Amino acid sequence: MNILGIETSCDETSIAVISNDKLTANLISSQDFHAKYGGVVPELSSRAHLQIIIPLIKDALKKSNLELKDFDLICSTAGPGLIGALLVGLTFAKGLSFSLNKPFIPVDHIEGHLYSGFLMEDKPEFPYLALVVSGGHTLLVLVKSFIEMKILGTTVDDAAGEAFDKVSKMLGFPYPGGPQIQKNAESGDENKIDFPVAETKGYDFSFSGLKTAVLRYIQKKYPDKSKMTQQDLYDISASFQQAVVKALVQKTKQAIENNNIKSLSLVGGVAANKKIREAFNELSHKYQKKLVIPELQYCGDNAAMIAFRGKTLYDSGKRFGLDYPPYPGFKFEDYNKSKSSL
Ligand SMILES: Nc1ncnc2c1ncn2[C@@H]1O[C@H](COP(=O)(O)OP(=O)(O)OP(=O)(O)O)[C@@H](O)[C@H]1O
Ligand SMILES: [Mg+2]
Repeated sequence: MNILGIETSCDETSIAVISNDKLTANLISSQDFHAKYGGVVPELSSRAHLQIIIPLIKDALKKSNLELKDFDLICSTAGPGLIGALLVGLTFAKGLSFSLNKPFIPVDHIEGHLYSGFLMEDKPEFPYLALVVSGGHTLLVLVKSFIEMKILGTTVDDAAGEAFDKVSKMLGFPYPGGPQIQKNAESGDENKIDFPVAETKGYDFSFSGLKTAVLRYIQKKYPDKSKMTQQDLYDISASFQQAVVKALVQKTKQAIENNNIKSLSLVGGVAANKKIREAFNELSHKYQKKLVIPELQYCGDNAAMIAFRGKTLYDSGKRFGLDYPPYPGFKFEDYNKSKSSL
């Protein structure tokens, strides 16, 4: 069986091929030009997806030694994401599905992240606890199977990645902020500034207070920003990063203790962060749970996770008409609600 995966929800165009259960291509073209605007410009993103999608599919076919007509299943991210960006991949996938007369599976991008640990050799075992930390989401999910999952907690305001990006901007670093904060934090003292970890109920997270605390600290301590030294930037980065790690670990610990799980998985773009990876390694040792963190190419946005998730939906009997989804860009929760009526 040959499966095509397409991902165009934000600023990465990605095409993947799974051929007879083997990932034969996972090509990712990142739109680095957004950096000069300090964030993703939706219209430019859609246009860039349009320009690159066909050449990228050609490359993936070549790499996999296949032709378009060889695909048996076409999967594409259906949401959440930027509407114009999503439409590029989604419309292409539906058109291809129609012309080849092969099934089309719309995939929730976050479910893609959620199951991305299965792209690794050593896979998660059900039931597992997943922490999804990305640019737009922070979710603790109890994953019971490829069909059943329960969201235990989410962010009440900013996502973890969003907090990294916003604090990075305050410090004058380029977009995306996560890797910049990580790099600067390496030379800083994480105990220098005591940034607050928000008290939230249950398994929920909150990063907005932390973000404001960093802003207030900078405004108060450095009314003249030019007085900020390189070491100050390092220390603020390290102390902020440590506060995020603390918040993520605190809730994950609670969830491990209160749920019967076999594995732990850390997924999404922010899962690339070294300190968060280290903290999860410690958690897995402490609680004797198998830990699966995807390798870097599967943490950020990639079509391998979309093709894989599409395959699991198809294998569990899900079928979708070309009129589905009703509109692209819907939220995770809406997707799950509408899916249950299928
Ligand atoms: N090393 C790192 N440390 C912290 N954050 C990081 C690191 N590398 C990437 N990030 C963050 O990961 C985020 C991008 O992740 P991803 O591509 O999964 O998000 P997205 O697709 O934009 O959002 P979503 O998946 O929620 O729709 C950005 O916020 C980026 O700053
Ligand atoms: Mg993502």
